[in-house]
Order: sequence, then C-alpha cells, then structure tokens
Amino acid sequence: MKIGILGAGQLGRMLAISGYPLNHQFGFLSTSNNEPSSLLGRMFINDDKSLVDFADVITFESENTNVEKVREINKNTPVFPSEKSLFISQHRGREKALFNQLNIPCAPYQIVNSRQDLKQAVKNIGLPAILKTTTEGYDGKGQFFIRKHNQISKAWESLSGVELILEGFVNFKRELSLIAVRDMNNNHKYYPLVENIHHNGILRLTIAPAQNISSQLQKTAKYYMQSLLDEMNHVGVLTIELFETENGLIANEIAPRVHNSGHWSIEGVNTSQFENHIRAITNLPLGDTTPRHNFCAMINIIGTVGNINTVLKLSNTHLHLYDKQERIDRKLGHINITANSQIELDASIKKLKAFLP
Ligand SMILES: Nc1ncnc2c1ncn2[C@@H]1O[C@H](COP(=O)(O)OP(=O)(O)O)[C@@H](O)[C@H]1O
Ligand SMILES: [Mg+2]
Repeated sequence: MKIGILGAGQLGRMLAISGYPLNHQFGFLSTSNNEPSSLLGRMFINDDKSLVDFADVITFESENTNVEKVREINKNTPVFPSEKSLFISQHRGREKALFNQLNIPCAPYQIVNSRQDLKQAVKNIGLPAILKTTTEGYDGKGQFFIRKHNQISKAWESLSGVELILEGFVNFKRELSLIAVRDMNNNHKYYPLVENIHHNGILRLTIAPAQNISSQLQKTAKYYMQSLLDEMNHVGVLTIELFETENGLIANEIAPRVHNSGHWSIEGVNTSQFENHIRAITNLPLGDTTPRHNFCAMINIIGTVGNINTVLKLSNTHLHLYDKQERIDRKLGHINITANSQIELDASIKKLKAFLP
C-alpha cells in the first residue's frame, strides 16, 4: 500500500524503515526538503492535496496535527488513528477527563484561563503543582513547576496567552510507560511496561522491560490501556505515560503514536512498535510483542552525536541516527542495547556513559 505520513521527522523515518520489507511505499507531508524522512519516500512540501492523491491510507507522527485537516482528509482517504484519538490526546484537559471517565487514576487538575483561575486552582489543588499549556507541549516545554505561593505570578507571566492547566504534583517512585497496538478488527497487542528516566524534561534512558514489576502492576496498566484503546476506537499504536507511586499507578498523558520509550523495540522485540503501527493501519495481522531479550535499554543521543565508534564497537548495541543537524536539546538518534543479564546490561550502559547526562 501507499502510506502517507503527516510529518517527516524521525518517527516517520523509522515507520518507513519498518514498512519497506512489507512492500509498502511512503510519502511524507513536510515543510522542507531537509527532514529526517527526506530520503525515505516521496516528499510533499506543504502540499496536502498531492500527498492525499498519492496515499491509500494516512497516518500522523505527532499529536499536534490539525484535527480539521484530518477530518477533511478522512472524507475520502482513511486516516488512522482516528480523529477522536487525535482530538483527545492533543489536549491535556481532554486526556484527564477521559482518564476520570474510565476510572484511570490521574493527578487533580484544573483548566486555567486567567490569573484569578490560577489562584483558585492553587487553592483547590495545593502546592507543589505544575502549570502546563494544555496543548503543544513536549520534552517538558511549556511547563512551570510551582513550589511556593510567591512563584504563582511568575508562573502566570511565563505561560499566559494560551489555555493552561494546573496539575497536582505526583510524588512518584518511577516513571513508566506502556505501548500497545490495536487493529481494525479489535485485536490488541501489548508491549511490557518500561521505565523512563528523564533529565531536564527530556527522556534520556529507557530500561525495557522495567525491572521488578509485579504481574498485578502489569495487569493494571494493561487494563487501563485496553479501556483507552476501546473507548477511542483507536487503530494503530497508543502510548500511556504513567507514574508509579506508593499507591499504585497514576496516568500522566497519552500519545496516539509510536513513542520514544518504544524505540528499544526495534531490536528488543519480535515486532517493533513501528512495524506493528504499520501493520495495524494497513489491515495486516499484528506481530508478536514478546521481547527477544530480557534486559534491554535505549539511550537517547541529545544535542551532539558524540563518539559513535564507542557504540559500534560493542557487540550488543545498535545505533540509530536520524540525519539531523546538531542543536542543543535536540533528539539526534538513539542507541539500543540488548543483553542477556542485568550485569551485562549495566556494563554496557556504563561503557556508554558519555551519552548520558
Ligand atoms: N503532575 C506531575 N507530577 C510530577 N511530575 C510531573 C507531572 N507532570 C509532569 N511531570 C514531569 O515532567 C515530565 C514531562 O511532563 P509531561 O506531562 O509528560 O509533558 P511532555 O509532553 O513534555 O512529555 C514528566 O515525564 C515528569 O517527569
Ligand atoms: Mg510526557
């Protein structure tokens, strides 16, 4: 099939890489000729119409995709995931309303449209709390951590102008995420829970599967995910970010797409998140999501590429670069590690410590 992707970043690039062995072809809606996906298919520069003419099916690589555009395209060409998944997951308030509707625990929250709203929200929710833009945030951008009352004004001044949401601070032990995929015939496949370690709001390291996860915890996460997939009639990959606390799991946010915390699956799992997304949206049977190795990790390459020879010399590591220019805090690539024991994994991460903050 001909697959059209709205966007041309690294997620689109890795979707295409996984889809070519299935005999699919790819086209990308791009804003320039110099994107990570540029050499991976037909490029349509700001030309939605030609992309839609090219494609049998359309998907997107970002939740910041215009919902109106998707609705319009979907009149003639199928778009997966659905407009509903996109609409909910691009807005933190709608995500949390859905969590509440489905009895998935999440932080207390309140939408904030004025300085007065913010004061009232702080009164209701308490401090510490995090003020965020309801839309468009990524890598911790568009957020202000309010610890004390005397920071309220500064928080308001630094983010006001767009709709905001105040969220209660969750005192978590670990950050986890779960990735799953649902096809058009309501079949589901789940990847194992993974642990995510962030630095300055940016994911730096994923440990996969997360260690010391009880079967009860995995089951609960799976149950939350299943109810989200079914409620949104989602087709494709869906990710949920979770906080692990003393009192169980608290949902943070969802992403209607392949996710950075699933990049380990390229070598770590029988069928990667990318291939399973492509299979789901092209009505092929979903692939097995069993890990090939019990101890995997993914290290993001951020800002500068560094000495890649260190990576290439190791027998159990795999380098993935995205063909992007170096820039501070930019995701340029990642390293996947596959190991057969915790000791082997720890030793490999240690050898790659120059890539970690
Ligand atoms: N309510 C919260 N309580 C505690 N930490 C939070 C909360 N919300 C966000 N964080 C921290 O900030 C990071 C980024 O926030 P997130 O809502 O996931 O936004 P982004 O869209 O940037 O990923 C989270 O991974 C977590 O470390
Ligand atoms: Mg997040």
